[in-house]
Amino acid sequence: MSSLTNPSRLMLRNCDELAVSRLLLVMPPSDSVISELGNELSDTEISVFTTVSEAEQIASRNLPADRVAYSYDLSSLKGAYDSIVFYLQKSRPLVEAMMSQLCPRLSENGTLWLVGENGTGIKSWRKKLTKWGAVDSVASGCHSGMLSLQPDDSFRAPASEIKESHFSVEVAGTIIDVATLPGVFSHGRLDVGTRLLLEALSKENVRGQLLDFGCGAGVIGSWFAARHKRCRPTLLDTDAMALESARRTLAANRLEGKVIASHGLNNLKGKYDWIVSNPPFHEGIKTRYDVTEQFLQKCHSHLGKGGQLRIVANNFLKYRPLIEEAFGHCEELARGNGFTIYGATVAKEFQSAEI
Ligand SMILES: C[S@@+](CC[C@H](N)C(=O)[O-])C[C@H]1O[C@@H](n2cnc3c(N)ncnc32)[C@H](O)[C@@H]1O
Repeated sequence: MSSLTNPSRLMLRNCDELAVSRLLLVMPPSDSVISELGNELSDTEISVFTTVSEAEQIASRNLPADRVAYSYDLSSLKGAYDSIVFYLQKSRPLVEAMMSQLCPRLSENGTLWLVGENGTGIKSWRKKLTKWGAVDSVASGCHSGMLSLQPDDSFRAPASEIKESHFSVEVAGTIIDVATLPGVFSHGRLDVGTRLLLEALSKENVRGQLLDFGCGAGVIGSWFAARHKRCRPTLLDTDAMALESARRTLAANRLEGKVIASHGLNNLKGKYDWIVSNPPFHEGIKTRYDVTEQFLQKCHSHLGKGGQLRIVANNFLKYRPLIEEAFGHCEELARGNGFTIYGATVAKEFQSAEI
């Protein structure tokens, strides 16, 4: 994704407003906005905060390392910003948690700008933001809106840490405590598809290295590690909030596991005995199939001989042909509530490239 998204186009049209000394872009999309804004605002020091590894990679190609923060909180960013542009996110708890971290980072008289596509509910945020301070609607167009906020003094005071919540998951007699930060997939409850996946795999003898691709709060990897003593999980996600949640879930259950930040399989090395996933097909409010399609095309090269793939997918998703193409076969292991569990095994004689 490199051309401009609608909110970025609207923001660039109004970027005269952002010609300040220090500007922070928060959760920019994976488009070309950082380089284009840099061209427009050559005297402004631009920094980026994101929880998404793909956006971090793009930011790092355009900005010095100390001006890019990829994390679940803002603690690595130093100093105050005259303007903060926050790209509206789908999850209201995430937006509110981030707002409480961002407002204290504004300089005196600094402005927070909220920009988002109409489908993300930017119009309704005009009213919701009034509890934070003085709000103005600055621009609309490109199917998007841009709001400005001058936070009240009470929201500029240093904020407490973003809080996690916990919920308990019980599937086939194995119970784990799951920690989730705001905005992480299925915040506060077990997803129906993930439950079907765990139930379908509850009789399998899962041992060795297991990759939980798109781990979210770490439910899948932690459940297997809690159930099978000889299972060693690696939890991978693009989202720093998800990865921090996954770390906390492992810790809450006294489990050992690796946690890897990666866009797709890009940062993954080594081979696994099992790859188990409830893979993504959304990014914000948009559907995005390329990440999971590439995952299904390439994941066999991360499985040893006899290695097993198990995924859950909505029935309407056409993953079966991709798995068949990569593995030479694909089994349907279970169906229910609109979801299907697919499985495939790397043939013993299958020779994949060394990773
Ligand atoms: C459907 S959720 C599943 C979460 C968790 N495994 C569960 O079952 O509750 C998909 C996960 O994939 C992650 N994801 C989205 N895009 C990704 C990408 N490009 N690379 C790796 N993970 C990604 C999301 O952050 C999300 O946590």
